[in-house]
Amino acid sequence: MPFLDPRQPYPITLADGTPYRETVQLAAVVDHPRMEIGDFSYFTHSGTAKETAAILAPYLYPFSRERLVIGRFVQIAREAIIITSSANHAMSGISTYPFRVFSPETITGYQDLPFRDTVIGHDVWIGHGATIMPGVTIGSGAIIAARAVVTRDVPPYTIVGGNPATMIRQRFTDKEIADLLALAWWDWPLDKIERALPHLESGDIVALKSV
Ligand SMILES: CC(C)(COP(=O)(O)OP(=O)(O)OC[C@H]1O[C@@H](n2cnc3c(N)ncnc32)[C@H](O)[C@@H]1OP(=O)(O)O)[C@@H](O)C(=O)NCCC(=O)NCCS
Repeated sequence: MPFLDPRQPYPITLADGTPYRETVQLAAVVDHPRMEIGDFSYFTHSGTAKETAAILAPYLYPFSRERLVIGRFVQIAREAIIITSSANHAMSGISTYPFRVFSPETITGYQDLPFRDTVIGHDVWIGHGATIMPGVTIGSGAIIAARAVVTRDVPPYTIVGGNPATMIRQRFTDKEIADLLALAWWDWPLDKIERALPHLESGDIVALKSV
């Protein structure tokens, strides 16, 4: 697939040959110790490429204990935001004010809160302005509707929307979803994905299996 290159920061080249700099491939531009990102996943935003991690997951710090894991071929629209565990203030005391953040001696690990990884599977489409709350797992093939606030795990190949996000519909039957997860096309070599492209686009799972 000659037009896909995971090392390319700007994967979209306009017809006049100039790169479209508001869409970036996450794995090519993000270097964050708490993020693991699969190839070909992209995010569109109006900042610079260097600002990508801070715009997408502004509360994930290099010293955070949780991880943000994003699979391959994930599509993230403008204004989507991933709020990770480090964003939480302790709520068990009287005040939620984070006093110890303001001292360099205590800023790291200043509160002993439970932390949970945020995990986004493969080929997930995250719509405009969606908010992903801490510790959520989103299954492969899921679609997050525009402006959804995702507070609970989303099963694979399920469309969710609203605040809090609830199921709009499942994209395939249970059997088809099991087949798609077993096929895991996102891990195939690019030449096989290229051969499978007509079936990926048409939704023909039987044909996809025979590639
Ligand atoms: C979620 C989405 C994919 C659903 O598409 P669809 O199935 O064609 O949508 P429909 O218009 O048939 O709506 C289906 C149901 O979902 C609801 N719905 C659609 N979008 C919704 C949203 N953003 N939030 C909450 N509910 C939504 C509809 O109200 C409808 O509910 P009903 O059956 O009770 O009437 C689409 O609405 C969406 O949000 N796409 C994201 C677009 C985007 O953000 N693009 C950014 C650039 S990539």
